[in-house]
Amino acid sequence: MFPTETGHGLALRGLASGFGPRESADDFPTLDQTLFGHRFANPVGVSAGFDKNAVAIAGVARLGGGFIEVGGVTPRAQAGNPRPRLFRLTPDRAAINRMGFNNDGGEAVLERLLRHRNEKGTGRPIGVNMAANATSDDPAQDFVDLVTLFAPAVDYLTIDVSCPNTENGQVFLEPRALEDLLARLNTARNDTGARPAMVAKLAPDLEAAHLAELIEIITAAGIDAITLCNTTTARPATLRSPHAGQRGGLSGAPLFEMSNEMLRTVYQQTNGEVPLVGVGGIQSGADAYTKIRAGASLVQVYTGLVYAGPGLIQAIKRDLAAFLVRDGFANIAEAVGSEHQT
Ligand SMILES: Cc1cc2nc3c(=O)[nH]c(=O)nc-3n(C[C@H](O)[C@H](O)[C@H](O)COP(=O)(O)O)c2cc1C
Repeated sequence: MFPTETGHGLALRGLASGFGPRESADDFPTLDQTLFGHRFANPVGVSAGFDKNAVAIAGVARLGGGFIEVGGVTPRAQAGNPRPRLFRLTPDRAAINRMGFNNDGGEAVLERLLRHRNEKGTGRPIGVNMAANATSDDPAQDFVDLVTLFAPAVDYLTIDVSCPNTENGQVFLEPRALEDLLARLNTARNDTGARPAMVAKLAPDLEAAHLAELIEIITAAGIDAITLCNTTTARPATLRSPHAGQRGGLSGAPLFEMSNEMLRTVYQQTNGEVPLVGVGGIQSGADAYTKIRAGASLVQVYTGLVYAGPGLIQAIKRDLAAFLVRDGFANIAEAVGSEHQT
């Protein structure tokens, strides 16, 4: 058996070469919605970390999702942490990673994005997930540089302020630092003349009062959407895999309830007025529907794809469309946050 990271690399190369599903995005009309100025033919996407370097955009699109997020990308290429740094926790349907933002750097990723856009287009929103270089002296400037670089080329920019795997991944959890950062990024974006949406991504390892303060700052800055959530450094007592003690961020099934709780909390704090992207432990259409009812307008999958296979996105779409009919919703937007109305 291949080590986990090599296996992922092979799967990605297969997708890039045209293997895998050939699904379209708009085959379930009730899943269509418009959010922050963009049309999403369906609410399911592949989350950051899956195609860090934008090498398989067309193949990822053919999985059938309604949007694509590439990255995390840092301004300068970096190697990330030493291997092994990705562990499969099979009995737990989970993974632990401490990749440390290995990526080819902003310029290389931008070139691939532009080439893809010009040659083929994808007909669906594309976002880039941004992070500071691990050794950067000025992580805020790294984000500014990335916004300047990518704003004209993408539909949305995700500010990942939640990575547990590099020192610079955490500095913006300090409220004043986050406030300053978001103000600078708004200016940098406006200076480009382009108006991609701005999305903030948080991790679940925050005390309730700290989370509330960060959400307050994020909404005051006019952020267009919030992604909940990144991986967790917590280790639930239920984990059975021998890899459970590895350092890094835990993803997959054990993150499901934790991320749902976060969605519910943030949906209530923001009165359902800010679109939320629900990610963490989705393995089925029922899981995705739980997140949508809890307040997510969009959902993303990563670890679930490893266990359920590349047909997962199509299965989620099919099941979501059936759940809408079953529950009397005319479209996906009606179901978003519906749990809070009962
Ligand atoms: C190997 C790996 C790499 C990841 N890299 C990133 C990243 O670069 N930026 C980011 O915001 N999230 C990253 N994530 C987190 C995922 O985008 C997602 O938030 C998390 O895995 C929870 O979703 P899941 O349970 O469906 O996997 C990564 C996850 C994994 C497993």
